[in-house]
Amino acid sequence: MSVDLRGEHFASLADFTREELEQLIDLSLRLKQERYIGNIDDALENLTMAMIFEKPSLRTRVSFEVAMNDLGGRAIYLAPTDIALGERETIEDTAIVLSSMCHIIMARVFEHSKIEELCEHSAVPVINGLSDLLHPMQGLADFMTIKEKLRTIAGKRLCFLGDGNNIAHSLMLGGAILGCSVTVCCAQGYEPAKEIVKKADELAKESGARMEVIYEPERAVADADVVYTDVWASMGQEKEAKERVKALSALQVTEELFAKAAPQAILLHCLPAHYGEELTYDVSRHPRSAIFSQAENRLHTAKAVLLSVM
Ligand code: CP
Ligand code: NVA
Repeated sequence: MSVDLRGEHFASLADFTREELEQLIDLSLRLKQERYIGNIDDALENLTMAMIFEKPSLRTRVSFEVAMNDLGGRAIYLAPTDIALGERETIEDTAIVLSSMCHIIMARVFEHSKIEELCEHSAVPVINGLSDLLHPMQGLADFMTIKEKLRTIAGKRLCFLGDGNNIAHSLMLGGAILGCSVTVCCAQGYEPAKEIVKKADELAKESGARMEVIYEPERAVADADVVYTDVWASMGQEKEAKERVKALSALQVTEELFAKAAPQAILLHCLPAHYGEELTYDVSRHPRSAIFSQAENRLHTAKAVLLSVM
């Protein structure tokens, strides 16, 4: 029997059970097939999504806008200067007004507390389209890609190299729930947030996954099923870019490092990429690089979440 997620917010993967995440992943895989066959579903006819952006975006904006259009609905893009979230008026008032006119809200913000405040005051579902703390929509597409390419998620091991950032956090939480072990390999001072590691450890007890934070890239990658990297300076950290390149340079994913992973291992990156920093251009084009399927899967997971919560 399927689980009903209607009316739920999508703020963190940690808010969902294993069964719920598996259902979303399976629905995403099915929707991908449907799109290729040309089947059209207008389940969201006459429904409107408000998309609030405090930061730039390619994948998140386009995937949600195309998803709403494909499903018969529409999306309104609200640029940082349009509503100046939390500055022009309170987040509470913004949430009340938007949910009186729209059927769902998606927001990309700096402080994660803004997502929580929107959730608290919105009468319609709120989707986290990335915060400084978490990127659950990306995590969902990542685990969908793992299932698509490697057939299973549980029992696999993912190695994330780089800054212990929002992507690392969502991978740890999602992996802990879905039974995929996660090794975060970072530099001293760039570890994932303690509260996320603690939460992932708790969640992993039930699934049997193993969470670890280590500092040796070769040991981290050895026999990993998935090698994952992300930019070293996230949006909002541009001023620290130089010092971050210096601190994290030993973690660059090259063809040589990727070759130490399991023979069928895939390479993932949420994009945008900074070639020559966290990974080389050559490794990004490796036959087992799945970065562009992963990007496309943002569309299918966006549809799965919209169809489930609306
Ligand atoms: N991966 C991702 O969220 O990409 P955008 O920043 O382009 O939305
Ligand atoms: N960690 C990156 C992810 C971008 C999709 C950032 O927050 O900028």
